[in-house]
Amino acid sequence: MTIWNLGSINADLAYSVPRLPLPGETIAASSMLRGLGGKGANMSVAAARAASRVVHLGAVGADGGWAVGRMMEYGVDTRHIARVDAVTGHAVILVDDGGENSIVIHHGANHAIPETLLGSALSEASTGDWLLMQNETLLQPEAAALARRLGLKVAYVPAPFEIDAASAVLPFCDLLVLNEVECDQLTTAMEAGLADLGIDTVVVTEGARGGRLHTRRNRWQPRRFAAPQVTSVDTTGAGDTFAGYLVAGLDRGMPLEQAVGMAAKAAALMVTRHGTADVIPDLRDVQEARF
Ligand code: RIB
Ligand code: NA
Repeated sequence: MTIWNLGSINADLAYSVPRLPLPGETIAASSMLRGLGGKGANMSVAAARAASRVVHLGAVGADGGWAVGRMMEYGVDTRHIARVDAVTGHAVILVDDGGENSIVIHHGANHAIPETLLGSALSEASTGDWLLMQNETLLQPEAAALARRLGLKVAYVPAPFEIDAASAVLPFCDLLVLNEVECDQLTTAMEAGLADLGIDTVVVTEGARGGRLHTRRNRWQPRRFAAPQVTSVDTTGAGDTFAGYLVAGLDRGMPLEQAVGMAAKAAALMVTRHGTADVIPDLRDVQEARF
């Protein structure tokens, strides 16, 4: 089937720093990387690397041709990426010695995706395809409602977390993938347990500790999954890689546990690499990895 991913496309500027600067402080980076990123583009590239058919729905400015070219090179269908009158989204990323990051994003073109693009892209979709979304664009509720009408399954990664966006999309979701902090924020803000959210499957990631699956079928009883243990140099993009691989596995008919296992391996590899979309491992790397 096909994964239709409504998502951001960013130019990532990533700086390796010994530690995060304090207010008023200037520090020098030991190295820097420029590349393709954005939680949307990262997930599209991950799903394509995992051998799925992926169509990206998004937008770049006149300065973003290189980003679209790279996505195409990585196997993503870019026909539904609009060129709009705004600067291409970008991100300034600081990565410390422990591999932890702090990120500032500028939405730019990611917040100027024309609404008409949803209808023209999804009119090509088939029942049983997936719609995937994050929180670095607008139009998630519109896209989710349309996708449901067309018989698509909806996967949602509410990152960066924003309660208004999340609560508007939840009624249309089949699969929710979020980290433990986002999970607490969501259930606290909604004053609800996972069972009350109207979703079938929730995957909560916990970094090096793996994470847990909750399904309606198993009455929301958490089932744990492990993460391969690796030395972390840069966690940036690991969550996106996990989500892209997970949806790709489900799209290819894998049982949930197996898709989660593959996603956890892909994310673990990603933690050992500096950078984002440009270094997402392909399926063979993931299958051959020995941790
Ligand atoms: O999740 C990592 C991503 O967050 C980066 O690629 C950056 O562009 C920001 O969107
Ligand atoms: Na990384």
